[in-house]
Amino acid sequence: MTMILQARNVTYGQRSRQGFSFTRRAPSPILKNISLDLQSGQTLGIIGASGSGKSTLCRLLSGLVVPDEGQILYQGQDLATASAPARKKIRSAIQMIFQDPAGALDPRQTISDIVGEALGPVPDRDARIRTALHDVSLSADITNRYPRAFSGGQKQRIALARALITRPSVIIADEAVSALDVSTQAIVLNLLLDLQKRHGLSYVFVSHDLAVIRHLSHHIAVLDHGRIVESGPASDILAAPTQPATKALLENTY
Ligand SMILES: Nc1ncnc2c1ncn2[C@@H]1O[C@H](COP(=O)(O)OP(=O)(O)O)[C@@H](O)[C@H]1O
Ligand SMILES: [Mg+2]
Repeated sequence: MTMILQARNVTYGQRSRQGFSFTRRAPSPILKNISLDLQSGQTLGIIGASGSGKSTLCRLLSGLVVPDEGQILYQGQDLATASAPARKKIRSAIQMIFQDPAGALDPRQTISDIVGEALGPVPDRDARIRTALHDVSLSADITNRYPRAFSGGQKQRIALARALITRPSVIIADEAVSALDVSTQAIVLNLLLDLQKRHGLSYVFVSHDLAVIRHLSHHIAVLDHGRIVESGPASDILAAPTQPATKALLENTY
């Protein structure tokens, strides 16, 4: 088992405490001393209440923002100190998908423009767009259509095709199915499982919903107020949560 993505003692975002206060207090960071390991070909589920720091953690893991302290390592390489060519490679190896597929797709672009965006004018462009659409069980006939023609679940699959086109090894999904109804969620989750099996993809899968996390995670980390309060194999955490934050999330499931 090899480690593909790691956070090492990451702290990010010094800020003052919520609300106003008459007393001067020490600022608390958005994320404090986060260490995580994502194994190649596996899924790390990140769970936590709203505001616990999940989206901020996604931006750090994908290299969009840089930690104040600690490191993010892709295949052992520190994103912050990698050479420009290495960083470019890492950026296409780590792709993100987001909660709102409609907002992520430009309504004026065709599906071909959207899915092929990261490719540029390569010779096998059309073939790669077709392959990416096929990977998410969409027909290659849709390339000249516009996002408005598609349902929420289809839009999320189009966003996934766009993420897959660079042949990434890691996909970071931030509440990627949270806006979909339950049956559409199941379709997208099964698609993700199938893609993982076929391509050996590794996922960081973020949700506030334990039912969704349970479906595909090998390991789980629980975030609470910017700290990891509990982490380990998914089955252990779900069977015997030890932390109040985890118990609260479990109680809200079903
Ligand atoms: N750009 C920002 N500036 C200041 N505070 C922020 C910023 N982004 C997020 N936060 C704060 O950081 C905390 C974590 O936010 P976020 O990562 O979006 O949490 P989650 O995705 O778990 O809901 C929240 O308290 C939020 O208000
Ligand atoms: Mg969020």
